[in-house]
Amino acid sequence: MDNSRNIILVTGATGTTGREIVRKLSESGAHVRVLVRDIAKAQALSLDSLPHVTVFEGDLGNSESLGPVLSRVDKAMLISSSNPEMEDVQINFIETAKKFNLNHIVKLSGIIADINSPFRYARMHAEIERRLENSGISFTHLRAGEFMQSYFRQVPNIIERDSLFLPMENQRIASIDVYDVAEVAVRILTGMGHKGNVYPVTGTEALTIYEVAEKFSAVLGRKINYVNISPEDANKARRDAGMSEYTVDALDELFAERRKGKESKVYYTMQNVFGLRPTSFDEFIIRNLPVFKGDLPVFKM
Ligand SMILES: NC(=O)c1ccc[n+]([C@@H]2O[C@H](COP(=O)([O-])OP(=O)(O)OC[C@H]3O[C@@H](n4cnc5c(N)ncnc54)[C@H](OP(=O)(O)O)[C@@H]3O)[C@@H](O)[C@H]2O)c1
Repeated sequence: MDNSRNIILVTGATGTTGREIVRKLSESGAHVRVLVRDIAKAQALSLDSLPHVTVFEGDLGNSESLGPVLSRVDKAMLISSSNPEMEDVQINFIETAKKFNLNHIVKLSGIIADINSPFRYARMHAEIERRLENSGISFTHLRAGEFMQSYFRQVPNIIERDSLFLPMENQRIASIDVYDVAEVAVRILTGMGHKGNVYPVTGTEALTIYEVAEKFSAVLGRKINYVNISPEDANKARRDAGMSEYTVDALDELFAERRKGKESKVYYTMQNVFGLRPTSFDEFIIRNLPVFKGDLPVFKM
């Protein structure tokens, strides 16, 4: 039961980042509420059996459903999916949170958030950040680089074709382990002195995909190739895989930005602000070896 007034709410709690944040907050002893759209999904992830965690059902886009979960909440972690509704539902959450006098919202944002970006989710993140800044609620923007966990999408290519297929040319990208994003989020949510700050976070290396393939080769003990596919072939592969046109277009925009080097800068926020050492790409592969060998399904991680 969350009897404390210092309740921390985590949205997006069934997702990649949110569930790690909930686990870490629970371990810290904080009183945690999680907002989920489907209680059964939270149960399948055992979120409901974590100490100090209470699960509520609701939708970020539906203000009425947010009343019970927002009552007496002090701080919130704001996360939802990259989809056409992201901007609307997150702004709805911020507007509703104002009525419940929330003290602080930590917004999971993107490393290239920019209102003028050619990439739609970068524009959406920037607009949500702007609305949060103008809401009167204190805020922290946690701007994360590409998640290393994105390489889980390459598992079939690694296992069946000994290859990574990406339209990155020879450009560098500074990725970050989701566990590190979650650790920083927990430090912000449970610590002091982060109000009004913007924190870009990446790992310590900006790697070409040739270098990423070398790292997979070294750990897996066989040659993994980087196949530098054209943007057109990447677009076709995504369509053939059944992705929606909206998502295919969004990913085209994202990789065009990445090929320009927009995500190749390494930031030292984790070290300098939080005294944390980011996970290296080698450590990420080694920790997830059963997945990259095909011995454990991605969704079991
Ligand atoms: N992938 C990357 O490399 C990367 C890098 C930096 C930043 N980001 C940003 O990180 C965010 C996604 O984080 P993630 O990958 O951890 O998320 P995720 O795995 O895609 O999960 C999204 C979560 O949001 C929930 N959600 C979506 N719409 C909702 C709504 N209307 N009401 C309540 N809950 C809702 C989902 O619930 P259900 O389980 O019900 O669907 C799920 O728990 C996006 O904003 C993305 O732009 C991503």
